[in-house]
Amino acid sequence: MASKAWCGSAILLALLFTIVKPSYGGITSKYVRKAQPSIDMPLKDYPPPKGYNAPEQVHITQGDHTGRAIIISWITPVEPTPDTVTYWPAKEPCEKKVAKASTITYKYYTYTSGYIHHATIKELEYDTKYFYEIACDESVRQFHFSTPPAPGPDVPYTFGIIGDLGQTYASKETLSHYISNKNAQAMLFLGDLSYADDYPNHDNVRWDTWGRLVERSVAYQPWIWTPGNHEIDFDQDIGEIEPFKPYNHRCPTPYKASGSTSPLWYSVKRASAYIIVLSSYSAYGKYTPQYQWLEKEFPKVNRSETPWLIILVHSPWYNSNGYHYMEGETMRVQFEKWVVQNKVDLVFAGHVHSYERSFRISNIKYNITNGLSFPVNDSSAPMYFTLGDGGNIEGLAAEFSAPQPEYSAFREASFGHAILDIKNRTHAHFTWHRNQDDKPVAADSTWVFNRYWFAQDETNCKLPA
Ligand SMILES: *[C@@H]1O[C@H](CO)[C@@H](O)[C@H](O)[C@H]1NC(C)=O
Ligand SMILES: *[C@@H]1O[C@H](CO)[C@@H](O)[C@H](O)[C@H]1NC(C)=O
Ligand SMILES: *[C@@H]1O[C@H](CO)[C@@H](O)[C@H](O)[C@H]1NC(C)=O
Ligand SMILES: *[C@@H]1O[C@H](CO)[C@@H](O)[C@H](O)[C@H]1NC(C)=O
Ligand SMILES: [Fe+2]
Repeated sequence: MASKAWCGSAILLALLFTIVKPSYGGITSKYVRKAQPSIDMPLKDYPPPKGYNAPEQVHITQGDHTGRAIIISWITPVEPTPDTVTYWPAKEPCEKKVAKASTITYKYYTYTSGYIHHATIKELEYDTKYFYEIACDESVRQFHFSTPPAPGPDVPYTFGIIGDLGQTYASKETLSHYISNKNAQAMLFLGDLSYADDYPNHDNVRWDTWGRLVERSVAYQPWIWTPGNHEIDFDQDIGEIEPFKPYNHRCPTPYKASGSTSPLWYSVKRASAYIIVLSSYSAYGKYTPQYQWLEKEFPKVNRSETPWLIILVHSPWYNSNGYHYMEGETMRVQFEKWVVQNKVDLVFAGHVHSYERSFRISNIKYNITNGLSFPVNDSSAPMYFTLGDGGNIEGLAAEFSAPQPEYSAFREASFGHAILDIKNRTHAHFTWHRNQDDKPVAADSTWVFNRYWFAQDETNCKLPA
């Protein structure tokens, strides 16, 4: 009798739970990353290249609006030369040309930089492999890169995506996993590079070590830079009041080519993608330079030429983690309406040290008095990704809010990188690779259907990747 009553109430309880439990679509991954200290690798793990004054920290980025130019940067530690780079098409080794760099140095508190060289090489052929060489008396360093195909609607192209990388053992792992994928052709970097500002007086030596760490990728393929909060390097107490000083000296961007007045926000076309980079840490309210620039930017996008419209920004607009919660809110309120009206496909952000993917949602109906402030499904809206999971010294952001908000499709507190594989004007495939026991594991993936050409729901697409 007693056991029957117990059984009955258990069933009732279970029933109650099924009814009361909110049934959200999203997944909070059960994977738990093994606890590891988040420490930077010691300085000795970043040896400079061999030879007196050998050029180091070689990095490249797109140098114009369409992909026919590249900016090659390097640092010589002792002498202001070599300040030239020799380059040639892989198929025509006799067609050597020389480009001269502009050379700068900067001081930061007690730190003085090496000679920082930036050479812009223009009028390259599309879809062509080039070699380049920076030669010093005792050392010749040779690298190569490939220009993208001309912008066009059905040009397949593969981007890597990393944010908040830093220079820990985990950062190195993320980078190795990314490099082991031979398909990726260019990097969308979401901000927070070296984390030098976590050291006393922002020890800028840690900018140099970071430059050496990433060279094995960024010397061979362009990294499209987005500024993060760790690039601000503002420190009034030591008299460093010029925001973005180390970043702006080290990481040039082709901002003038897109009519921008600041290297911190700009756009590039690359193959079938139109990429807009925004700065979370520059003014964006109405009438500000960034606001005015972005307003004029959307009408310039021709989806018949570049179907894929992608935004990179450091601070996420949708983030269900306790870390940096709602920091991107003011920018979301300012720009989300434009993003939906213009059918942006994807918004990639960093900043929060975990991974999260949203459904296609928008929250643009609020007008102060109507109470309509809630994200709703919206087939014109982008998917939002948070990829601040590069593995930096500050560790994981593992405090997801409970219950998982309806707009959040998948979230996991791990480190990793992502790949966006654009197939044609309608289809792209996105995969997030977690760092799992020293191996990259594809832990989340989704098809992405283009908002301009094929605005269907892709959530249940079963095509093989
Ligand atoms: C919103 O879209 C997601 C993904 O398609 C779905 O799981 C969810 O049920 C939708 N929510 C509403 C309220 O329609
Ligand atoms: C848009 O791009 C297509 C394909 O390149 C081109 O034919 C068309 O003229 C462009 N439209 C405008 C308004 O520039
Ligand atoms: C806000 O929305 C409400 C409800 O739709 C409407 O009555 C009101 O006029 C709107 N206010 C403004 C300032 O547009
Ligand atoms: C675009 O790519 C998808 C996925 O590979 C494929 O199923 C589709 O047929 C392609 N569309 C065209 C027009 O080629
Ligand atoms: Fe950040």
